[in-house]
Amino acid sequence: MGQFILKTRVYLGKEGLDEILTGVGRAFIVTDKFMHESGMVGYLTEPMEKKGVQYQIFSDVKPDPDIATVTKGIGQLLDFKPQVLFALGGGSSIDAAKAMNWLSVKGGLAEKMSFVAVPTTSGTGSEVTTFAVISDPQKSAKYPLVSEDMLPDAAILDAELVRSVPPATTADTGIDVLTHAIEAFVSTNANDFTDAAAEKAMKLVKANLIKVYKNPNDMEARQKMHDASCLAGIAFSNAGLGLNHGMAHTLGGHFHIPHGRANGILLPYVMAFNAGCHDGLTPVAERYAQIAEVLRLEGSSVRQSAFSVVRTTKQYINQLHIPNTIEAAGIAREDFEAVLDEMAEAAYNDSCTRTNPRACSVEDIKEVFQRAYTGKLI
Ligand SMILES: NC(=O)c1ccc[n+]([C@@H]2O[C@H](COP(=O)([O-])OP(=O)(O)OC[C@H]3O[C@@H](n4cnc5c(N)ncnc54)[C@H](O)[C@@H]3O)[C@@H](O)[C@H]2O)c1
Ligand SMILES: [Zn+2]
Repeated sequence: MGQFILKTRVYLGKEGLDEILTGVGRAFIVTDKFMHESGMVGYLTEPMEKKGVQYQIFSDVKPDPDIATVTKGIGQLLDFKPQVLFALGGGSSIDAAKAMNWLSVKGGLAEKMSFVAVPTTSGTGSEVTTFAVISDPQKSAKYPLVSEDMLPDAAILDAELVRSVPPATTADTGIDVLTHAIEAFVSTNANDFTDAAAEKAMKLVKANLIKVYKNPNDMEARQKMHDASCLAGIAFSNAGLGLNHGMAHTLGGHFHIPHGRANGILLPYVMAFNAGCHDGLTPVAERYAQIAEVLRLEGSSVRQSAFSVVRTTKQYINQLHIPNTIEAAGIAREDFEAVLDEMAEAAYNDSCTRTNPRACSVEDIKEVFQRAYTGKLI
């Protein structure tokens, strides 16, 4: 049975905060060190002070949060007993807060509290997704937890919060948005509703990502990328993702490559595999050809149009100075080969891979990894 869930109230601007804080006595803020030390957390604490809301800040979240951080946060959350839980930051802070909220309430340790996500990167769309990605550093693994109960009650989209994101992070997170939209669009669970969100996200990325990478103060383009990130989140939260994320989780887990960059490195190679660029066109090529149409790319046949999408993403990756192979990301061949079998197995078992449009074996995934290492695209 197909379905489409929209739960999160999305406020388009700071004004939403006033409404959210009305009548609130205690709030707990999950964020990272940069947000705390740079003073950006004042975005939440200043209005809280004005309204007499008592708050506590947990700023121990690091990129790719692990279970130890989540457990520590739960301890403080349970002591503080907030009515509202805020997540302020990129996907890492939002995912850590999601896991704290979900585990403490599901485990019967805390009363249900209101949960508000305030993204400061335009990338994961985590503010509207059922996903939280938690790392296990000992196993060099990342696990996507998926539950409807993790969806935030509200999100605030304010591009002012993204202004300070450095260009390399703008590039990584922006290509993550594109990967979400493309994977959702070709997913086995895609439907008209997820397509609508994914198509709009792709169009916004095309019109704004390179612009904002070149000019971080282009606030119109920043807001459009923030919207694109949220729309792509709505699309993939409902349609699911695919092999690209399955592979990126294990690649990022092993070699500490930022999530979006790992996706960007792999994207052309996964699309080439899905479309059958090496071994005969697959029915998925038709879906990529539809993306070419959405993005108004050239192509007079399904083959040409599908290739055109692969080529275009390669161009974005070059323009954004994202490494275009795993080798170019600085991974030595012997280190890569030492974990290749393990990574192929992990990607095969990753829950994101289940909705990939082309069935794949561990051997297939190994080959895609090898192509992405050397840059053998076609
Ligand atoms: N839940 C989901 O649906 C979902 C989807 C995709 C990825 N993820 C996960 O999200 C995490 C990645 O999130 P991300 O890409 O947003 O990065 P992030 O949250 O890890 O942040 C990356 C870096 O950017 C900094 N930063 C964040 N906002 C900033 C700002 N406004 N100005 C300056 N610096 C800023 C952070 O301090 C950090 O150092 C990964 O763990 C990934 O697996 C989750
Ligand atoms: Zn992603």
